[in-house]
Amino acid sequence: MMWFEPTPFVLGGTTRAHLQVNGLSAGYGAFLVLRNLSLEIKPGLTVILGPNGAGKTTLLKALSGLIARQGEVLLNGEDLPTKTNEIVQRGMALVAEGRQLFPQMTVTENLELGGWLCSKAERARRMEQAFVDFPKLRERTQQLAGTMSGGEQQMVAVARAMMSAPRLLMLDEPSLGLAPKMVDELLAIARRIADAGTTVLMVEQNVKKALAVADRGYVLERGTLVASGPAALLARSSVIREAYLGAAANESTKAITTQPTVRAEPVEALRRAQGERVL
Ligand SMILES: Nc1ncnc2c1ncn2[C@@H]1O[C@H](COP(=O)(O)OP(=O)(O)O)[C@@H](O)[C@H]1O
Ligand SMILES: [Mg+2]
Repeated sequence: MMWFEPTPFVLGGTTRAHLQVNGLSAGYGAFLVLRNLSLEIKPGLTVILGPNGAGKTTLLKALSGLIARQGEVLLNGEDLPTKTNEIVQRGMALVAEGRQLFPQMTVTENLELGGWLCSKAERARRMEQAFVDFPKLRERTQQLAGTMSGGEQQMVAVARAMMSAPRLLMLDEPSLGLAPKMVDELLAIARRIADAGTTVLMVEQNVKKALAVADRGYVLERGTLVASGPAALLARSSVIREAYLGAAANESTKAITTQPTVRAEPVEALRRAQGERVL
């Protein structure tokens, strides 16, 4: 199917990315973090939720080829390569946790690095597009990335990833450590990118805000999926409300605690997945 959309953020590729993950396992050496994970990343914005240590970053690393994986991963029906540079060439880009910018380089230089695969002319075109999409960065082209605020750095990191004209953009906790207003801005950017045709897979700890902008969501706990569904339904589900949104009135501090306790009646899948957990 061909797509043409004269909207911002559309930088390349003609087919919306659709990722199918079947029986994915991955970890570090002998330590298996993800076990037999199956999920589908459809065009639009998919969010992965879950407590610290659940394996969310590990999932993005496995999909980016940064760590070895087992199982089937299909990008628009074709086997995803295992090497990172080949995965990037297929149109997948990762904005890693902690942004990974070059702090001693300017905004422009950081963005140029994101477009290393394309010609000079194409790189210039994408750079111009980046400044259309992220007008705040246009005023800061010569600023050293390391001297920018957290939110600005996150914008540079997302803009740099968009310089590779990805069909699938992976964001690992883009709002981490940002002020509420910047959180909203970053999540709105993720939404706009998805609306413009780049499939977005986003890991987030801001459960409520993430579900408000996402189309679909998965909840990962201890390397296993325990719930999934349309974002609006997930937001209303007892799994999310009880474990992550702190349905109790006295839990207004943080969306996710590091050790969420499931107090309400969990869905059947959750009960099965958690096995030994005392409810
Ligand atoms: N480089 C690593 N080497 C060994 N274990 C790791 C490494 N990175 C993460 N882990 C472990 O893998 C598990 C999942 O971590 P991670 O994917 O970072 O979780 P999340 O992103 O959901 O917080 C944790 O138990 C963590 O300690
Ligand atoms: Mg993480």
